[in-house]
Amino acid sequence: KKVVRRITCVGAGYVGGPTCAMIANKCPHITVTVVDMNQAKIDEWNSDSLPIFEPGLEEIVMKCRGTNLFFSSDVPQAIRDADLIFISVNTPTKMYGKGKGMAPDLKYVESVARSIAEHAEGPKIVVEKSTVPVKAAESILSILRDAQRTNNNLTFQVLSNPEFLAEGTAMRDLSNPDRVLIGGEDSEEGAKAVAALVEVYESWVPRERIITTNTWSSELSKLVANAFLAQRISSINSVSAICEATGADVSEVAHAVGFDTRIGNKFLNASVGFGGSCFQKDVLSLVYLCESLHLNKAAEYWHGVIEINNWQRRRFADKIVAELFNTVAGKKIAVFGFAFKKNTGDTRESSAIHVCKHLMEEQANLHIYDPKVTESQMRSELAIESSEKNVTKLVTVHSDPYEAAKDAHAVVILTEWDEFKTYDYSRIFNSMVHPAALFDGRLLLKKKEMESIGFRFFGIGTAPNHLTRVGFAATP
Ligand code: NAD
Ligand code: UDX
Repeated sequence: KKVVRRITCVGAGYVGGPTCAMIANKCPHITVTVVDMNQAKIDEWNSDSLPIFEPGLEEIVMKCRGTNLFFSSDVPQAIRDADLIFISVNTPTKMYGKGKGMAPDLKYVESVARSIAEHAEGPKIVVEKSTVPVKAAESILSILRDAQRTNNNLTFQVLSNPEFLAEGTAMRDLSNPDRVLIGGEDSEEGAKAVAALVEVYESWVPRERIITTNTWSSELSKLVANAFLAQRISSINSVSAICEATGADVSEVAHAVGFDTRIGNKFLNASVGFGGSCFQKDVLSLVYLCESLHLNKAAEYWHGVIEINNWQRRRFADKIVAELFNTVAGKKIAVFGFAFKKNTGDTRESSAIHVCKHLMEEQANLHIYDPKVTESQMRSELAIESSEKNVTKLVTVHSDPYEAAKDAHAVVILTEWDEFKTYDYSRIFNSMVHPAALFDGRLLLKKKEMESIGFRFFGIGTAPNHLTRVGFAATP
């Protein structure tokens, strides 16, 4: 007999929604209820238009919703009903008090722990799915244990089960994960709880890909995994600057270096900088952890990953201004892409926000097109960085990329949407102000092809023509 029959997930966001849809789909014997304090979001999950876009998600939600997948805002009821509760709430960088701008804000995680303590009537396995610092499980357990003092029926086990899905490929990542990581207490009860969660994943994940560790290793592994991934991007981005100054080509370097099986070829795409809700937040969380442990060298080392990322964004924006003859004031600039990566409408920490902000400071007129990001989303993100007045004055949002580019001095590519590769760039070139420039922040387009159309082309990590000719330095 299976141990877990009813799962509740608190937090119906990018992680809670897709993860629970996958569990419901793969485990027909389990009833999964996703709850959130945001009623509007729950209404959307129960409607025809889901609150997040993720390829393959809608299909599964429509298939399972009302059968063994439910969305509700009745948190107390869902807590009472569950054998196992996922905590999938946000843990954003704290914007006040101690650790401001560095430490993750754990107030939402704590409030869920308190709700569980208040409403649970029997034994529960509580699972941290949110990304948290090492030892967060200890705080959750302290709150839960306190409730046990007054109610003998309550027993709690807290597990760490971080999520490794990436947005845009969430459903694929969930259905075929590289690994599932489960950390638990080193005790008989802890082992039982771990086994119960292993059993859930075993419905579709091969046992050898389910790793079990102690709680602290699991919590730390999540931060470290994101830090290593972000570090690869900052490493290649630092190299992109060397390429631009020397005549080496960053794609060729990444290809040659990545061919070493010890290094591997994934996650070596130079870009305008990584974005998304996780990398910056989790690297900063690791830096804060190092600092709290007085490991200043380690803190400094990881902070470099963030510094390079900020530098890369700034460098790209400065390049645009410099190449447009040092002034973009009043010039129309088309921006292709606002999401932090392709195949998502998510804009959290998108590099586009930062590049646009720099260009707005220079008084450029931005004409933005993104296939998935809504106009109101773009405006509110930019208003945080600039001001509403500035956004109204300087930003126009388009639903047609050709309209965005018409009469522009430059096109700037900031997200790697596939459709950007398929446009008719001759048509775009002909509709622009000349000389027309193209700034490729994602290495999506071919330099030679674009130059033959007539563009002045600038790609991340791509050297200007005069540097790529061998012997240039010696030629007068
Ligand atoms: P999100 O903001 O999309 O969703 C979190 C949801 O939790 C929100 O809808 C919010 O209303 C709800 N919530 C907060 N406090 C609540 C409470 N007390 N009761 C009920 N609902 C509450 O966040 P997300 O992107 O899904 O991330 C969740 C966690 O997963 C974070 O810790 C994040 O670091 C981690 N994570 C995210 C990703 C990703 O790609 N987005 C990947 C791996 C891990
Ligand atoms: C990341 C991790 O990949 C995932 O395992 C974790 O669970 C959450 O954080 P996510 O942020 O959704 O996922 O997307 P990811 O594919 O990692 O991309 C993050 C950012 O890095 C994007 O802005 C992307 O464009 C950029 N990136 C990625 C690069 O600039 N170059 C690369 O080679 C890869």
